[in-house]
Amino acid sequence: MKPIRVGLLGIGTVGAGTFNVLQRNQEDIRRRAGRGIEITMVAARDTERARALTGNGVEVVSDPFAIVDSPDIDIVVELIGGVELPRELVLKAIANGKHVVTANKALLALHGNEIFAAAQDKGVMVAFEAAVAGGVPIIKALREGLTANRIESVAGIINGTTNFILSEMREKGLDFATVLKQAQELGYAEADPTFDIEGVDAAHKLTIMSAIAFGIPVQFDKAYIEGISQLQAVDIRYAEQLGYRIKLLGITRRTRTEAGEGIELRVHPTLIPAARLIANVEGAMNAVLVQADAVGASLYYGKGAGSEPTASAVIADLVDVTRLATVDPYCRVPHLAFQPNEMTDVAIMPMAEITTSYYLRVYVKDQLGVMADLTRILADGGISIDAVLQKEPGNQVNLDIIMLTHQTREKNIDAAIAKIEALPAVIGKVTRIRLETLA
Ligand code: NDP
Ligand code: HSE
Repeated sequence: MKPIRVGLLGIGTVGAGTFNVLQRNQEDIRRRAGRGIEITMVAARDTERARALTGNGVEVVSDPFAIVDSPDIDIVVELIGGVELPRELVLKAIANGKHVVTANKALLALHGNEIFAAAQDKGVMVAFEAAVAGGVPIIKALREGLTANRIESVAGIINGTTNFILSEMREKGLDFATVLKQAQELGYAEADPTFDIEGVDAAHKLTIMSAIAFGIPVQFDKAYIEGISQLQAVDIRYAEQLGYRIKLLGITRRTRTEAGEGIELRVHPTLIPAARLIANVEGAMNAVLVQADAVGASLYYGKGAGSEPTASAVIADLVDVTRLATVDPYCRVPHLAFQPNEMTDVAIMPMAEITTSYYLRVYVKDQLGVMADLTRILADGGISIDAVLQKEPGNQVNLDIIMLTHQTREKNIDAAIAKIEALPAVIGKVTRIRLETLA
């Protein structure tokens, strides 16, 4: 059988990794896929650089539409990044009857519903393993490996850049800006690194996992997003003294309240007990913890970013698409795990309704009765305290009071924080970080 013909849109960090791994392992990949997989066209703005990477025998073009419109291409691999241009390219490729592989989580989080519907109509596949957790095959696990289960929750460290920053800050005491620069040099960070540090990239990935886990549409606009840019080194230290690590965690979970069933969809810095496996995931590594009714807890760990780890996932998709290209579209694995006509519309919960535990740091004047005021406000709000730590951060006049609470509703803690900030002895804002035991 003739090799399947692939057009690569973009030959940057992930594109070059894909090209190299496909060349290096082509014989094993052919034996697995049942036929060869050949990159025959590449699009890049800097065509000289692209030619230097591909060598002869590959057509290099500067116009990516030349690939999606080419009758000689079977699969389009979108590795350009951004949203609007990839959306146009992917929809055009689908309209032209081509299968698509993409690593673009922003694209799918924002336009996944439109893209999957178009692919469904046209009977083509859109594969996106590389879009979530880089080289970790979590999409395959959620969509196929766990298909027997009712999934209860997914919680993950799904942004390598922020995990790298948090690890280096905690282990080496390096400052935020220095470590971010290193992450950019290592090719982990997005073109716009605010997507990483403000939690947007993690929310893109979480939104995709949530849709697959629960059979709901992709709803990025409903995600609660808080990044690590406001996180202070002092809180990383205090958390450690209390036996916790702070991680940027994406959490999506089924929740039942008096109002009915809802789905949590949130990304924020989170204290996790240091004894948990996932709390020890360091550097650019990713990990996703899935709770499901039959299998229980399962943890998926590996490199979440970088050239060849991400290429590994892109090529796994290429092999899947190659194997299934001739199969009746109705016999393929649905894009979001559930059959398109079996999706549900369970609502995403407003943040005020979620229940979790909290780390609170209150900077106070060292006055008689201040601790009593704090504990009274929490008790009045029905919030029970789990641990208290008192620290003198450098002077004898003011104190940091750190409290860990038991589980409570977010709206209760919001109300208590407003009352605490109004106390005359309290200086500035209360620092609030959510805490998950992940038991
Ligand atoms: P890079 O910026 O390294 O590469 C982008 C490539 O796209 C470059 O070859 C660039 O060409 C090309 N390109 C951009 N715009 C155009 C255009 N208008 N026409 C033709 N070519 C164009 O990005 P990455 O490889 O890091 O990321 C690609 C995608 O993969 C993104 O969606 C990203 O979110 C995702 N991803 C990245 C991971 C990583 O670790 N880096 C991990 C998982 C997913 P030129 O260089 O000539 O300008
Ligand atoms: N910028 C992303 C990260 C790349 O740091 O995880 C992988 O998606």
